[in-house]
Amino acid sequence: MDEPLGLGILGCGVISATYLEALRASGQSDWRLVAVCDVDAEKARAAAGEDAAAYADLDRLLADRRVDAVVVLLPNYLHADATVRALGAGKPVLVEKPMATTLEDCDRMIAAADQAGKVLMVGMTNRFRLPFRTARARLRAGEFGSLTFIADAFNYRPAPDYRPRAWLTRPETVGGGMFTQMGIHSLDRAIWLAGAAPAWAHAVIRNVGGIWPDDTGLATLGLADGTHIQFQTDGLAMQRRNECVLHCSEATVAVTGRQMMVYRRPEPEVQTFEDNPMAQELREFAAAVRSGGPSPLDGREGRVPVAICLACYESSRAGRVVRLDEPPWSVPAPARA
Ligand SMILES: NC(=O)c1ccc[n+]([C@@H]2O[C@H](COP(=O)([O-])OP(=O)(O)OC[C@H]3O[C@@H](n4cnc5c(N)ncnc54)[C@H](O)[C@@H]3O)[C@@H](O)[C@H]2O)c1
Repeated sequence: MDEPLGLGILGCGVISATYLEALRASGQSDWRLVAVCDVDAEKARAAAGEDAAAYADLDRLLADRRVDAVVVLLPNYLHADATVRALGAGKPVLVEKPMATTLEDCDRMIAAADQAGKVLMVGMTNRFRLPFRTARARLRAGEFGSLTFIADAFNYRPAPDYRPRAWLTRPETVGGGMFTQMGIHSLDRAIWLAGAAPAWAHAVIRNVGGIWPDDTGLATLGLADGTHIQFQTDGLAMQRRNECVLHCSEATVAVTGRQMMVYRRPEPEVQTFEDNPMAQELREFAAAVRSGGPSPLDGREGRVPVAICLACYESSRAGRVVRLDEPPWSVPAPARA
């Protein structure tokens, strides 16, 4: 059995608790938390616990020789600089979604990983969830017939006392608004499930309620194989819904983070799952770091949903269909395997 790798966590905010829990859930056989970093010293100390070092500055974390790899859990607009610096210091990186707020930043991150020859992984969480993985495998195996379209929704209204952190209220620090922050989950899983190259997008994205820079988004994507994806974000919805529905010739398949319902005659089939997607991400990241790659979800793949989100904003702004199969968006086909 290999020694656990030394993990450094950059950013000790809300999602860091989920990662710390995932580390505990995975029994720490892959990773040992050796250092954390946050500009808020109190948060860093709390996340570090008894055994890890707490830093306020990324350079100090990167200089810590016990750190074999870094997880970047910063506000979106800070992902690129931190990732480029960590890769430049020879540390593999797992960066949270969205990969970055601009395509230029995504490209800098991809170039830094190529130059360093180190693993860069993007944490598109839904691809590590068992229900989505199972649905994709069964779709590929032909069990549902042929795919016609995917309808995906990420809807929820925050509690009345919710006060968003400042960076979540500005388009430039989020890289958009709710459509990016939540919708990117929908978009990424739908594209990954469909497995065909996106050809065009048409979107309407608005701010109706005022909490996010935008809170209401509707988009249709056309794919090169003739299938379509329709998705929505609704930050005012009283019905909480985070669901991807595959409309296929032999079945209609509704997938959530916990369940897959296969509707067909005579009876629907229900499959429920218990898993921890962050623990799965950390396991696959560890395996890639140990082997030197490839990355389970590299920068080129992580760039795809960012490009589509930005193209949807452009479509909404300009009130027109935007091509995704030519510059400046040029989204490649996702892996079909
Ligand atoms: N995959 C998911 O389901 C999921 C869920 C939530 C958040 N996220 C992503 O995780 C990231 C973090 O989100 P969050 O909700 O934890 O945000 P947050 O605002 O709660 O935490 C960010 C932390 O970064 C720290 N920070 C800011 N600038 C820093 C700097 N220069 N150096 C060191 N620390 C700095 C802040 O003090 C804060 O503690 C975002 O990219 C978000 O999109 C993903």
